[in-house]
Amino acid sequence: MNAATPTFQPLPRAASPLPLFVQQYQGSSELICAELIKGLQAPEALLSPKFLYDRLGSKLFEAITELPEYYLTRTENWIFRTYLQDIAKHIGSGCTLIDLGAGNCEKAAHLFECLRPKQYVAIDISVEYLRTTLARLHHQWPTIPMLGFGADFSSKLELASTVFSSKRVFFYPGSSIGNFSVEQAGLMLQQLAAQAGKDGWLLIGMDLLKSRAALQAAYDDPLQVTAAFNRNILLNVNRLLGADFVLSHFKHLAVFNRQFSRVEMYLQALQETRVRWGALGGGARCFRQGECIHTENSYKYSFKGAEELLNNNGFCVSRYWFDPHKLFCVFLAKAREN
Ligand code: AVJ
Repeated sequence: MNAATPTFQPLPRAASPLPLFVQQYQGSSELICAELIKGLQAPEALLSPKFLYDRLGSKLFEAITELPEYYLTRTENWIFRTYLQDIAKHIGSGCTLIDLGAGNCEKAAHLFECLRPKQYVAIDISVEYLRTTLARLHHQWPTIPMLGFGADFSSKLELASTVFSSKRVFFYPGSSIGNFSVEQAGLMLQQLAAQAGKDGWLLIGMDLLKSRAALQAAYDDPLQVTAAFNRNILLNVNRLLGADFVLSHFKHLAVFNRQFSRVEMYLQALQETRVRWGALGGGARCFRQGECIHTENSYKYSFKGAEELLNNNGFCVSRYWFDPHKLFCVFLAKAREN
């Protein structure tokens, strides 16, 4: 182009202010330490899966979603891509899109084009990660007002008054609800329904029951990315508790428990080992060879079970979409007026 040619740029549309970021999670680090220590001292040691998602853990999870064996994300994305128009038609435009466990916000961003939300609210426990992704997203969609919350909504969901109250759509993709027991999931859904208001919706992705082989492959991949993701929880605990877990003393284990309809993840001690921590006055725990730390449950639902879970807990399923193999299901459910 000739340097003298004047260039005309279209006027930018009015940009929304930068995403406001509210940290609700940290600061209560004593509570976090107490929770971790309680789990480590339990006869059958356990760590909540929410501690899998520190900065590195979130990146490892992102890598998991690219694995050939981990069909969940890919399949759900196919469903959203394929039925986006249909989904948007049912919800209508101008909603308040509330992303539960937003992670890299990618899934919600794909809905923006069709849904045109009036406000986007991203909630995630991994604060650092959310801050960066939200800044990037704001750059791409400057006209959509955005809010970020660093919060653990699994214990209690309290939406700030800055979250619009009209047509709230809770977006809960990825089968993340599978981390909760059926009972806990029901309680969580009831909380969501109460916060949704009478024109509120839930758009949720749920993984479906399938063969043991397919499930175990998805949670124990030959590249061992899932193993790294699981073992990284010990690095996070070392940091949070000032602990000294030796990672090479533990191996990743994933088993499908048919009785409870869930994939269970464990870290199993390869040898007798001990962990010591400095937080809250300090403490220690020994592990015998073969002893396990339970790190995650990932519940798998039958279609009927999933539908029942929603319909029995404050919502009314209005539409659903499958992939061709019925590996995964996306539900759109309306909050019931109580
Ligand atoms: C993010 C909870 C849905 O359970 O499939 C992936 C986490 N764990 N591989 C899942 C996970 C092992 C994931 N969720």
